[in-house]
Amino acid sequence: MSKKIIIANWKMNLSISEALRFAKNLARSTNQVIVAAPFTFLASLRDKVKRGDFRLAAQDVSEFEVGAYTGDVSAKMLKEVGCSYCLVGHSERRIYHHETDSQINLKIKNLLKYKIKPILCIGENEEQKARGQMSKALKEQLLGALAQISDPFQIIIAYEPVWAISTFQKSAKKKAASEKDIVLAHLYIRNLLVQFFGKKAGGIKILYGGTVNKKNSAEIFSLKQVDGALVGNSSLKISDFNAIIKQ
Ligand code: PGA
Repeated sequence: MSKKIIIANWKMNLSISEALRFAKNLARSTNQVIVAAPFTFLASLRDKVKRGDFRLAAQDVSEFEVGAYTGDVSAKMLKEVGCSYCLVGHSERRIYHHETDSQINLKIKNLLKYKIKPILCIGENEEQKARGQMSKALKEQLLGALAQISDPFQIIIAYEPVWAISTFQKSAKKKAASEKDIVLAHLYIRNLLVQFFGKKAGGIKILYGGTVNKKNSAEIFSLKQVDGALVGNSSLKISDFNAIIKQ
């Protein structure tokens, strides 16, 4: 299997001591492992990053560069605390905080300015899927987020269909998207990238996210269109996450 990018998205879970224990017990992996931690954990995790087993990501960044924005954290501050990556436009931020594509676009520009790699999350919701509007939704989100960006090669895309993210699934039996759904969406996103940024954009990494776990990860990673995964729930238990990164 080619080297994958596997991101733990802890969301608003764990404590600093649990996070440090997690970092200590993280298995060695041939894959590129990234941990997206809450802001308050970042400084404590920074030292652990030096060991080289994983890289650090934030889960969000301010759309503003500096100034009177109470509660915001800037790209420059993330750089200072050792972040190499940052999630942007996660569906929980779009849904609970009403983030728009133009705000996401500003966040990406700020991250690029400070040489932090944005991990842009896009994905259709259940209603859009039912109406056959997946491609329309993905195109709007992708082009809105990448407007006036001439060099998108530092950006990683995470395709996360909202209906497959464990947070938004109503039934107790959480399910990832099917292989067919994943392949179709990834091909569509890659084609869009090439259409807008030229052939070189074919190399931009596209990850899948939505109920990735130790049972389905091998199958998902075997899809050649998939460059890795964004893992929520299954990144909270070290044994589960180790099983995923050791694939
Ligand atoms: P999940 O979350 O793996 O729990 O579905 C993925 C995400 O929200 O990034």
